[in-house]
Amino acid sequence: MRIIAPTVLILLSLLSCTTLEVVKLDFAPPVNPLTLVHISDLHIRGNDPRFSEAARLINSSSPDMVVITGDLFSEAGRLDNLGWFLDQLVGIPHKAAILGNHEYWSGESLRQTREVFESRGWNFLVNETVDWDIKGRKIRVFGADDYLSGRWSLKDVDPQTVDLFLIHEPELFNRIILQYPNLKHKLFLAGHTHGGQITFFGLPLYLPRGSANYQLGVYSLNENTLFVSKGMGESAPPFRLFSNPDMGIIQF
Ligand SMILES: [Fe+2]
Repeated sequence: MRIIAPTVLILLSLLSCTTLEVVKLDFAPPVNPLTLVHISDLHIRGNDPRFSEAARLINSSSPDMVVITGDLFSEAGRLDNLGWFLDQLVGIPHKAAILGNHEYWSGESLRQTREVFESRGWNFLVNETVDWDIKGRKIRVFGADDYLSGRWSLKDVDPQTVDLFLIHEPELFNRIILQYPNLKHKLFLAGHTHGGQITFFGLPLYLPRGSANYQLGVYSLNENTLFVSKGMGESAPPFRLFSNPDMGIIQF
């Protein structure tokens, strides 16, 4: 038994799904379509070549904006690795990131985490909005504080004026729609679920608290749209089974 358990773990990590899937979505109006790249759940643990490959893919799609929906790392001491990845994203005019539950759990300084982004020209949104003027279109982005471990709030913004909601846990989509039933035609981007991370041919063994009834992909509620990314990295255990990492390239 003492040999079997580690052997099974090693075998599972060898089978780990590492191929980055690109999910292409189109929610663009007929005029002035914009390209938005959505990544999530980096859980960055080092200067992993997979992230360089992802950065190359992102840069080559020439996006107008890139957003990260939380879980940047799982433990303290990874800000240098995070900066290393962000420095590889070049020529992207509009960039925003939010917190997930793991930043709170990591014990890392949230002030220094914010500095890593802001010193590189990113908007770091914790219950904050940013207005982007892109190719003649005005886009208002709201980034929520973490639903499970932070204090999410929409009190400083009229949600009707928001075009794009960045949330970490998909359950917050339900909460916001319940609280603002007149909200229509909004796009919400989330992560958190890792698509199940360990699945039996796609059927998740477990979905974390805050996933609600969502696993991956596109959902609709009250004429609003939610895209749930499977994320790029892994939390414990450090491998994926039948759940590839992904990123969204969204016409918006
Ligand atoms: Fe995560």
